[in-house]
This record gives sequence, C-alpha cells and structure tokens, in this order.
Amino acid sequence: MDFLTLKYLKPKNIEEIIDLSIDIKKNPEKYSQAAKGKTLAMLFQKTSTRTRCSFETAMTQMGGHGQYLDWRTTNFTLGALRDEIRCLERYVDIIMARVYKQKDLEVMALFSRVPVINGLSDMYHPCQALADLLTIKEKMGGFDGVKLAFVGDGNNVCHSLILACAKMGIKISVATPAGYEPSPEVVSAVKKYNKLTLTHNPKEAVNAADIVYTDTWVSMGQEAEKEKRLKVFRPYQVNRDLLGSSNPLIMHCLPAHRGYEITDEVLDSPYSVVFDQAENRLHVQKALILKLLQ
Ligand code: CP
Ligand code: NVA
Repeated sequence: MDFLTLKYLKPKNIEEIIDLSIDIKKNPEKYSQAAKGKTLAMLFQKTSTRTRCSFETAMTQMGGHGQYLDWRTTNFTLGALRDEIRCLERYVDIIMARVYKQKDLEVMALFSRVPVINGLSDMYHPCQALADLLTIKEKMGGFDGVKLAFVGDGNNVCHSLILACAKMGIKISVATPAGYEPSPEVVSAVKKYNKLTLTHNPKEAVNAADIVYTDTWVSMGQEAEKEKRLKVFRPYQVNRDLLGSSNPLIMHCLPAHRGYEITDEVLDSPYSVVFDQAENRLHVQKALILKLLQ
C-alpha cells in the first residue's frame, strides 16, 4: 500500500491512523522498537524543516533509521526515475518523497515494492492533513459539528485538507481569489460528502468558523509568479479585521510568511495552535509508518 493522496482512503482507514497516533503520542515508549531494523528513505526535490525532521525522528524513536536524500546529490538527477527507484527499494523498507509532480510519485509507487509516502507534491500534502486532523480532534474533542475555513490559495495543502475534512465530517469553507480555486478533481471527489463550500469572499468563509486555516500564497516552485500572487492575494490575509470579534483556532502548516498570508498578531495569538500542529506531524507519521509496514 502507498500513501500518495487521501482521495482513495476510506474514512475508517483515516480514523484508524488518527487513533493509533493518539496512543503513540500518549505512550511513545510502547512503540520504541516498533520499526526496529527498518529504514525509511526520505527523498527531497524541495526544502523542508518539519517533514524531514519529523520523519527522521519518528524512525529514530521507533528503533529504525531515516535516510535523508537530497535529490540533487543523488543520481536521480542522471538516471531514469523508474531505474533509480528500483534500486532504492532494494535497500529500504519504505520511501517518502517530496516532489514537484504528483505523477512522479505515481511512477515511484508503480516501480517500488515497498510503500511510497507523499511528503508533499504540487497537488497534495496528505501527511500535513493527517497532523491537522489529529490537532482538530485534540482541540475540538472530535470532528462532528466542527466548521473550518481555509483562506488563501487552493493549493496542495488546501486539497489534502478538503479531502481530510470532508471524509471526517468537518464542514470546510474555502475562500480563494478567482482563478485560484481548488482543483475540480478534488472538488468532485468530495461532492458526495456535502461538506465543502467554495467562495471568493473571505469574510463569508470565516463567518461562524471554529477554525481558520491559511498557507503561503507562493508555494515552492511558484517563485516566478510571486509578484502577481502577492497582489492578487492581498485581500485574503488572515488578520484581526477579517476575524472581527471572533476568536477561532488558528492553523497554518508552516512555514508562515508573516505580514503576508497572516499577521504576527493572529499567528502569535493565544488561539494559534500552529506549533501543536507541527508537533503532531511526528506522532501521526509514526502511526502512518507502522500502518504501512504492517
Ligand atoms: N509543513 C511542512 O510540510 O513543513 P516543511 O515544508 O518544513 O516540511
Ligand atoms: N503550499 C506550500 C506548503 C509548504 C509546506 C508549498 O507547497 O510550498
């Protein structure tokens, strides 16, 4: 089994990962040998703090090993992707990759006999969404009746969050500028759950929301569009004026661009749970690794 997107996972399977992560977080010692002798290859085309460090530490704390591979210093830059993967999978028990194209992950999964995890692509960031769900469950006591607003770019983080929320019964309203809406593929995948609302009006999205979530306006790989994006997204900043007198929980996958998609005041407010959210990457990825190694 691979973990490239939440699209094909049943709500029951997502719930199992979250529940296991809660036990792991409570009793880390119980899992200190759970990945004994196992190696996770961690292949990166893009930079990372949280994904790299949480995966590497997850393996160490479970008695296994995380092997960091910067794409540019490997012969993935020279050989065919399928050939390099067919070698890598002979050395390791599981592979996590952060790439530009989701298609490359699909090629890796096709040619690897060991599980492949999406550590972020231009289309999805499913590990982030698992940590988001764990954080929501901890802070809100469950998923039923929770309303989340995502304000900003209909990007990879937004896509995985839509799939995660809709499948777990969280109402999600997404406010983006015109032309930056989430992909129709994601929107149609969650239609049957009837939990997603799309709007161009950020005030409308955050109205009565328990949680307000945002992410960068310029994702890795979009640097050439930076100037244009900073202008288009300006009215979508999560700031005190947008929130009015409400005090929803504030979520952000990080890294945050202070003064752009979110102000210091909101990010540093007592309602901000961004660092708990970042910590939860560790716990939930341990659960994911153990499920995939099973
Ligand atoms: N949220 C997240 O994936 O952070 P990094 O890009 O630092 O891994
Ligand atoms: N949307 C961002 C997320 C970073 C964790 C990006 O892809 O750069």
